[in-house]
Amino acid sequence: MGFYTTQVVPRIINVACGMKEADPLRRRVCDGLAGEVVEIGFGSGLNIPFYPATITRVSAVEPSDLGWRLASRRLAATRIPVQRTGLDGQSLLYPDDSFDAALSTWTLCTIPDAEAALHELRRVLKPGAALHFVEHGLAPDESVRRWQHRLDPMQQRLFGGCHLTRPIVDLLTAAGFTVTELDVFYEKGAPKVMAADSLGIATAGG
Ligand SMILES: C[S@@+](CC[C@H](N)C(=O)[O-])C[C@H]1O[C@@H](n2cnc3c(N)ncnc32)[C@H](O)[C@@H]1O
Repeated sequence: MGFYTTQVVPRIINVACGMKEADPLRRRVCDGLAGEVVEIGFGSGLNIPFYPATITRVSAVEPSDLGWRLASRRLAATRIPVQRTGLDGQSLLYPDDSFDAALSTWTLCTIPDAEAALHELRRVLKPGAALHFVEHGLAPDESVRRWQHRLDPMQQRLFGGCHLTRPIVDLLTAAGFTVTELDVFYEKGAPKVMAADSLGIATAGG
């Protein structure tokens, strides 16, 4: 990986994903998390301030060393133990049925093989456990989708492999999750091509 990917992209993500407009969405998606939680694409720990006190431990999966370093102040400020225990969501090092819940925020766009990551999450979640997610992906409107397809190659080059056109709910369902809560909307303050969000809860089957 080159300098741009390792040293620039994590800083861009820290600023772009750290916009205050996203705070209410982070609060919503973290609401109800409890017990042992795995968070994939932990980034710079922007969800930490929104972790509810019902979480007992977070296992963070994040390939970027710089992302993890940028999380240091937030890590120091939380009483919830957070450990970086994985580098790749596509291949988790935990045994089956390890976690009470999972968290993924704007990450399925970037993991090269999102399907593999979701299968891994399902494997490590206890039966019936919930994945809390907010992800941007393929827009509900055809006019926006056309632009997403046009801009997708540039987006991937500029933002560390981020795709604009992933069908989030279809990916979840294909991996064997049941989507039990779902809100689809355009995030305020961002261009629609990058802001077609799906926020909800999906449960891992038994
Ligand atoms: C757009 S950022 C979102 C970061 C964070 N979830 C947030 O809400 O601020 C996508 C994150 O996915 C991470 N990522 C990329 N490939 C990954 C992989 N194979 N496994 C886990 N995370 C990955 C990136 O390093 C980056 O931190």
